[in-house]
Amino acid sequence: MSTGYLWIKSFHIIGVVCWFAALFYLPRLFIYHTGTPDQAGQDRFKVMEAKLYRVIMRPSMIISLVFGIWMLILGWSAFASSGWLWLKLAGVAVLLGYHHYCARIVRRLAADQNPHSEKFYRVFNEVPALLLILIVILVVVKPF
Ligand code: HEM
Repeated sequence: MSTGYLWIKSFHIIGVVCWFAALFYLPRLFIYHTGTPDQAGQDRFKVMEAKLYRVIMRPSMIISLVFGIWMLILGWSAFASSGWLWLKLAGVAVLLGYHHYCARIVRRLAADQNPHSEKFYRVFNEVPALLLILIVILVVVKPF
């Protein structure tokens, strides 16, 4: 692997780590937000959710995507026939759907329209962990 490729991969991993920090914490905020009865407390969560989404989650998703797609283009001839990569990309598609659904919840909460229960958010919060396990095993072990 060339040094240039390894630089791209480093920034890809940096983006992914930051993206997951937000993917783990934003749904936690939804849990606490839902359990907060007073308006002042809820308004504080709205600011935290909006900032976490805009300052960390969306930019790091874009960084992961840009550097990931860059590697895909550079190594396409080898990647096209790799089963693990296609399954990884399917996992990434689910993760992007999850990301956008989180953005939608942020907007609904900002308008005081909470679409879900605290119990829902507790289960919802586990989804990124499962995708992380799947994707990391796929890219490191490359089982097929
Ligand atoms: C956003 C869309 C993504 C694309 C297009 C993408 C694409 C890629 C590509 C092409 C590689 C290089 C693989 C190789 O050289 O063998 C790679 C490496 C890697 N990706 Fe992604 N990826 C994406 C998202 C993710 C996500 C969400 C995670 C974590 C859950 C992740 C974790 C990794 C890791 C850890 C590596 C380094 C593997 C290694 O060489 O040891 N990627 N990615």
